[in-house]
Amino acid sequence: MPARKIIIDTDPGQDDAVAILLALASPKEIDVLGITAVAGNVPLSLTAKNARIVCELAGKPEVKVFSGCDTPMARALVTAEHVHGKTGLDGPDLPDPTMPLQDGHAVDFIIETLRQHPAGTVTLCPLGPLTNVATALKQAPDLAARVQEIVLMGGAYFEVGNITPAAEFNIYVDPEAAEIVFKSGIPITMMPLDVTHKALVTKPRNDAFRALGTKAGIAVAEMTDFFERFDKEKYGSNGAPLHDPCVTAYLIKPELFSGRHINVEIETTSELTLGMTVADWWRVTDRSPNATFIGEIDADGFFDLLTERLANL
Ligand code: BDR
Ligand code: CA
Repeated sequence: MPARKIIIDTDPGQDDAVAILLALASPKEIDVLGITAVAGNVPLSLTAKNARIVCELAGKPEVKVFSGCDTPMARALVTAEHVHGKTGLDGPDLPDPTMPLQDGHAVDFIIETLRQHPAGTVTLCPLGPLTNVATALKQAPDLAARVQEIVLMGGAYFEVGNITPAAEFNIYVDPEAAEIVFKSGIPITMMPLDVTHKALVTKPRNDAFRALGTKAGIAVAEMTDFFERFDKEKYGSNGAPLHDPCVTAYLIKPELFSGRHINVEIETTSELTLGMTVADWWRVTDRSPNATFIGEIDADGFFDLLTERLANL
């Protein structure tokens, strides 16, 4: 099978960084056409910089990185320095990037790339708020019929929220964008907190990254050391959840995951539950299924895959 062509839309973020490293370490399965940065965990200037830091960490300065939307479609930006630190990539000491940002806007890159490739051959992988992707769909409605699939990290149902009691961060930051994406008719596979909270970096798993002894392995271990302090305090869990790498791992080994094809609607008006992904897991409505909601992961298989692939960098 030829490598699957993808665009990674991201707000790095330590877990975004690991997702990107996994993709760049897996060229047989994944062909990264470009990386588009969006404002989210930290402001856009930092996410656009961090995306390039990660490409250079992977030894791939030739990857095209574009800067995108700096604010959500209809709201002020909410960021998550309390989780990811001031830079968004706190933990390891990584050099500033020397590779350039590409000319042009991320949204134009998404539109042009989807129009240049045959319909149904490019997958979008959003790892942050959905602003860039929804803006592209709004500007170019023909794109909906051209996207092969959207595999995204976002949402939560049984696991409820991490930024408010009801909402997961990526959806909460730009619910209007999420609504456009979930109503687009594009096949969607989503990695909600329900599954990512089962992908915990326990100490032995982090030790395995560090034991690779490579720049990438050590950096991943240090990133995880940094952001796990937050989740350990909050959830009392055994380590930090590696949210975003679930997306790229799914592209490589979908058999590690399982879920249900159901209807998912986005709350955009209630103050109390803004950004909630109302998932009809029990199929109690007759609303049409629009997303595969992943709930289970083979966590050992996932961490084996990550460790094996990071060793390639
Ligand atoms: C999501 O929010 C961000 O903080 C992470 O990078 C991940 O994409 C988890 O809610
Ligand atoms: Ca992210």
